[in-house]
Amino acid sequence: MTSNSVIVQQPKCLRDFALQPNSRYKLESILDLTLPFPDNGICGIILYGLYGTGKTTLANLLPGLIDTALSDPNSQIIQPSLIVDTTEPYADHYACAQGQNGTQLTQQIQNRTQLISLNNSSNHFVIMDEVDNLTEAAQAGFKAIMNRHNVVFIMTTNNLDKIDGGIENRSVVIDMNVPPAANWLPILRKVYTDANLTPPTDETLERVVLAGRGSARAIFSDVVMAANQAKRAGHTAVSNVANLRS
Ligand SMILES: Nc1ncnc2c1ncn2[C@@H]1O[C@H](COP(=O)(O)OP(=O)(O)O)[C@@H](O)[C@H]1O
Ligand SMILES: [Mg+2]
Repeated sequence: MTSNSVIVQQPKCLRDFALQPNSRYKLESILDLTLPFPDNGICGIILYGLYGTGKTTLANLLPGLIDTALSDPNSQIIQPSLIVDTTEPYADHYACAQGQNGTQLTQQIQNRTQLISLNNSSNHFVIMDEVDNLTEAAQAGFKAIMNRHNVVFIMTTNNLDKIDGGIENRSVVIDMNVPPAANWLPILRKVYTDANLTPPTDETLERVVLAGRGSARAIFSDVVMAANQAKRAGHTAVSNVANLRS
């Protein structure tokens, strides 16, 4: 990577994500502890949406944010969207590949979560990426272990329809699809200001968001490319963003 390459900072808190208002509200309610979680049989979070909407990125971040919210008193004197991971909990990751043996997966999770959790909040965190790839039988087995105490399941899927109703019922469901373009603007402007560039107009940025149809991957590629072009041309401001990827 050359010295004039612009990079996007990896998100660290909810503010770094462009989210639909309702999705943000649900996640903030968990982090400000107004929604007891995990509790009352609700121990899952399902992040659903199209490709590239930031599901896996958010899923990897949530254990740290939830563990911190539950165990670091300092987190409760700031806005929930600004909470960052101060406790660095351990989380188990399962990429739910097509045709995964469900019995084996369930057994593995069962064994792991039987141990005492050393995380500050005493919760185990289980991340299940692309959980819709599990067969119906595998999902049924997995659902049975959702009744455990002190286990948080964070799941992602492109297809909410393919998720077992019982799993959905035990989960907070978060729609990651196309937030209003306005929610993207501060995040995209920051890519430019972090690189010491004057951002393009809001209208230009809104066009990039609309063209990207909610895919963070596509939107960030376009934004970063325009920033790099400006840097290489020795400009201090960006006026145009080409829609190459979106
Ligand atoms: N809010 C965000 N801020 C910065 N980068 C993001 C954000 N959301 C997603 N990304 C980036 O976009 C890409 C796609 O995100 P990913 O989580 O893999 O999407 P999905 O799992 O929904 O397909 C990744 O490279 C990720 O780092
Ligand atoms: Mg993903």
